[in-house]
Amino acid sequence: MLRYFTAGESHGEALVAFLSGMPAGLKVNQAFVDRELWRRQQGYGRGGRMKIERDRAHILSGVRHGCTIGSPIAVLLENKDWKNWTEALPVEPGDPAKQKRVASPRPGHADLAGALKYNFPEARYVLERASARETAARVAIGALAKLLLRELGIEVLSHVVAVGGAAVEKEVAWPAIAELYQREEVLLNCADASAETRMKEEVDRVLQTGDSVGGVFEVVAHGVPPGLGTYAQWDERLDALLAAAVMSLQAVKAVEIGSGVAAATSPGSAVHDEIGYEKASGFNGFTRTRNNAGGIEGGVSNGEEIRVRGYLKPISTLRRPLQSVDFASREPVKAAYERSDVCVVPAAGVAAEAMVALTLARCALEKFGGDSMGETQRNCQGYLRQLREY
Ligand SMILES: Cc1cc2nc3c(=O)[nH]c(=O)nc-3n(C[C@H](O)[C@H](O)[C@H](O)COP(=O)(O)O)c2cc1C
Repeated sequence: MLRYFTAGESHGEALVAFLSGMPAGLKVNQAFVDRELWRRQQGYGRGGRMKIERDRAHILSGVRHGCTIGSPIAVLLENKDWKNWTEALPVEPGDPAKQKRVASPRPGHADLAGALKYNFPEARYVLERASARETAARVAIGALAKLLLRELGIEVLSHVVAVGGAAVEKEVAWPAIAELYQREEVLLNCADASAETRMKEEVDRVLQTGDSVGGVFEVVAHGVPPGLGTYAQWDERLDALLAAAVMSLQAVKAVEIGSGVAAATSPGSAVHDEIGYEKASGFNGFTRTRNNAGGIEGGVSNGEEIRVRGYLKPISTLRRPLQSVDFASREPVKAAYERSDVCVVPAAGVAAEAMVALTLARCALEKFGGDSMGETQRNCQGYLRQLREY
């Protein structure tokens, strides 16, 4: 079973990710993993921190001579800013006067709920862990999941569908999304140039006014065969697993599979994807006229592209802070301000790719099994043959 965890504080010494259950013999391409980490750091509207950090995955275990060995994989990502925080966040008791207190909780962050829950007098420890810096650790192990999926013919990428009120108007096909991956200047990771210009204007507007903006990304998994996930048990449904995985990302407040939102207000005839047959097409000849289902019916992948959208609320930290209350005095004050991004939709899309890849890798390993890549691929090939001969 594929399992994973992350650990680490935003300004602590390092982030760590653990991934266990990967078969042995998967080639690990360090440059690919580091490029994924780089992609997460890009996007118009990111804050100053992205300039000091250039993440690199330091693989500590589970990979030898360039390949996984079936043992748990531990990955460490250094926090480059740690040198400025050693006195503020020491492991040992340290000097309480040097702690960087977060004196007033910031609306939209975990600050207040976390301080109440863990009985902290202020929010420093809360934000250190609730921060989306943690997604870097997920992206590192998500990259390994992507490498596994590639061996099974599956690719996972994302693109930005909306920033604030600026949105792409029609579905973006896979080749255009794949082209975005090649970009050296990510900007808003949008495949529609005119929409991207409008998105940039949205970011410029909030930069000028001290506000922030949210948006929508779409993750697309290409080449997924029918049969991942199942309707047989509620917690094995692929749509449920993907929704939880994407919703677990900081600031994601809604998840949509295919055209799920529009479907709720459309007649059935305009929603469901009619079925046809063309002998040489797809995995086994069955075709669809469209993909409103986003590649999943009944909690099972149906052989079409899997399309999952994440809806992000606007960033909570505002340069023009909202009203709050001082933890100590309970007097009204402006919320604390800490260096912040104003728009993270492209980066959230990359983090969501990692979550989708980890989820699909888990389902693929549940279906195909295998302790070595040869075994996993052989089982996968056998199943693909079964589909062709169906
Ligand atoms: C990639 C990424 C980067 C983020 N960067 C920031 C940031 O710089 N400032 C901020 O206030 N929120 C940022 N967020 C969102 C917060 O982490 C998130 O809103 C907060 O932890 C509260 O969690 P919730 O929105 O899921 O309730 C970011 C989210 C993502 C996905």
